[in-house]
Amino acid sequence: MASKKLGLKKTEDTDEIKKTTMAQRRWRLLARALTHSSEQLNPAEEEISVRRFTSFGLVNPTLLENAPVDPESSWYEYSCVIENELFIAQVRRINKTFTANELIGFNNTGNVCVWPSEECLAYYLLNNQNICRDKIVLELGGGMSCLAGVFVAKYCGPAGVTLTDGNVTSVDNVRCIVARNNMEDFVKCGVVQWARAAALLRQSANGNRVQVHPYIHP
Ligand SMILES: C[S@@+](CC[C@H](N)C(=O)[O-])C[C@H]1O[C@@H](n2cnc3c(N)ncnc32)[C@H](O)[C@@H]1O
Repeated sequence: MASKKLGLKKTEDTDEIKKTTMAQRRWRLLARALTHSSEQLNPAEEEISVRRFTSFGLVNPTLLENAPVDPESSWYEYSCVIENELFIAQVRRINKTFTANELIGFNNTGNVCVWPSEECLAYYLLNNQNICRDKIVLELGGGMSCLAGVFVAKYCGPAGVTLTDGNVTSVDNVRCIVARNNMEDFVKCGVVQWARAAALLRQSANGNRVQVHPYIHP
């Protein structure tokens, strides 16, 4: 692309070319996901992928051999040792390949993996159990595992726990996890989309009485 045509100075021109190249590489990555290509990423493509590493190794998954089998998911035992104490929870991970329609629907990043930030939060709260003790705990955007909220419910003595995400598939998966860890009586799960919840809160601030709680998606 000629800088003359765009009326760009030399440095702007170089930046423009860099951006175009980056955009092209991102589109190629997306195309590969949509066509379900199993080709390995090359180093340049790895670099533009937002997910640069998978774990800090604080909470570690082991595949559960004797868990329910279905082609779209697998069960893992997530474990963490802090000062010689072992913490474990069984977690269902979604393995399915998403269709183009699902990918352009509501944010699907929480169904891709358990992100390292969720792992850190789980570890931090297990290591600082007083933060949640006797408190009402609400996890927002917890993805397909709500790993931190699950560990809090199991080990940190909260007064109540509600696990949420805006993605219906994630929340359905979290319900399975809560059931398998025998916490159905104590832990609520629901779809909460932040813009919608914020609008309800604004209405309630305007004097209307509105209850904001996770709604159960059909
Ligand atoms: C990068 S994922 C992280 C998931 C999980 N916390 C983890 O670390 O494994 C971001 C999550 O935020 C949720 N999310 C994004 N925008 C949202 C919104 N506007 N309302 C509710 N949830 C949202 C997505 O559905 C997704 O599960």
